[in-house]
Amino acid sequence: MSHLRSRRRRSSRIINVTVAHRSSPSRSFGSRRSAYLAVIILFSSSGLVLTAFQEPSRPGVSTEEPEETKPQPIPFSHKIHCLLSQDCLVCHDMPSPGSSMGYPPTDKCMECHETVKADSASIKKLADYHNQNKPVPWVRIYRVPDYVYFSHKVHFKNAKIDCEVCHGPVAERDVITTEKPTTMTACMDCHKEHGAPVRCNTCHNPHP
Ligand code: HEC
Ligand code: HEC
Ligand code: HEC
Ligand code: HEC
Ligand code: HEC
Repeated sequence: MSHLRSRRRRSSRIINVTVAHRSSPSRSFGSRRSAYLAVIILFSSSGLVLTAFQEPSRPGVSTEEPEETKPQPIPFSHKIHCLLSQDCLVCHDMPSPGSSMGYPPTDKCMECHETVKADSASIKKLADYHNQNKPVPWVRIYRVPDYVYFSHKVHFKNAKIDCEVCHGPVAERDVITTEKPTTMTACMDCHKEHGAPVRCNTCHNPHP
């Protein structure tokens, strides 16, 4: 069984690398996925052993510009706006089927900014998007890879988990960063704690 044990040790090292990579600001799922040549899932009597081989030429660090360090096109602050409306769903209205929360349309912003600070440069930029019927190209902060199934509705409506549990104290932030992890470990820890399903196909290829 010693070969199994060493495989398990190596797999936990790879998973640690992954976690360190995720919590660092650099994130590029495309290149990171290609950094793994193969992922082999072995079943042993004691459970599931996961072995990942990393491409030797690419350490688990992305060289691309991390998305979340890009500035937002308009310096929107939750700290200012959550004082005006405490209900997150006023702006993130969870469009059907509820997998995503979505971003507010510019109509929502212009309810106030037709008049509030209408002369400021960033509000003029906002008004330009609005008048051209274009959505603001917000930089995406939280994202799980395509091969992961996630639904806000399941967590927020069914399990009644508050936004802050997964996104931190947003209402106190001027700028949103990934201050809470969305790693597999983070999902699994909470699922185990709440007795939610942990079968692999809960989150991977769940609905063939
Ligand atoms: C007045 C509208 C408004 C309200 C109210 C609001 N948000 Fe937002 N939210 C936005 C906009 C616009 C963005 C995109 C810009 C940004 O990331 O700051 C955003 C982005 C976010 C993001 C990052 C999304 C991503 O790209 O991953 C999270 C998380 C978030 N909001 C959570 C919340 C929570 C939690 C609340 C309630 C406490 C809330 N928001 C209230 C407008 C709003
Ligand atoms: C309920 C009214 C209201 C809504 C809706 C609203 N805002 Fe605001 N916004 C304000 C107020 C009030 C301020 C603070 C103005 C001040 O500093 O005097 C502000 C400030 C701002 C500023 C800073 C402007 C500057 O130059 O100081 C930006 C940028 C901004 N809002 C963007 C947005 C965006 C984008 C949306 C839509 C997602 C939005 N706001 C929705 C009321 C609102
Ligand atoms: C159980 C954890 C969890 C909870 C609770 C949660 N979120 Fe999220 N949120 C995520 C994850 C994971 C993503 C990335 C999803 C993806 O890539 O498809 C995300 C993405 C987002 C985004 C980016 C755009 C989108 O729609 O995917 C916004 C905005 C957002 N969340 C707002 C909220 C708000 C507002 C609440 C509360 C009403 C909330 N979230 C509750 C985990 C959570
Ligand atoms: C804070 C706790 C928490 C976190 C974090 C969390 N979940 Fe969940 N999740 C739950 C609970 C509780 C349920 C059961 C909901 C219900 O009762 O329907 C659930 C249900 C689900 C389901 C539906 C399962 C089914 O078949 O009914 C999926 C899929 C899922 N979560 C994926 C994820 C993913 C992917 C992540 C990480 C990005 C994640 N979850 C993070 C608590 C969490
Ligand atoms: C509760 C949700 C959830 C469950 C259950 C789950 N995963 Fe994951 N898994 C994720 C998330 C989220 C990611 C993406 C993590 C990231 O972005 O780094 C992931 C990533 C992966 C990866 C890619 C690893 C990497 O670093 O690229 C593999 C392989 C994987 N999961 C296998 C499994 C296996 C095998 C099982 C069953 C034992 C399983 N997963 C169960 C949520 C889940």
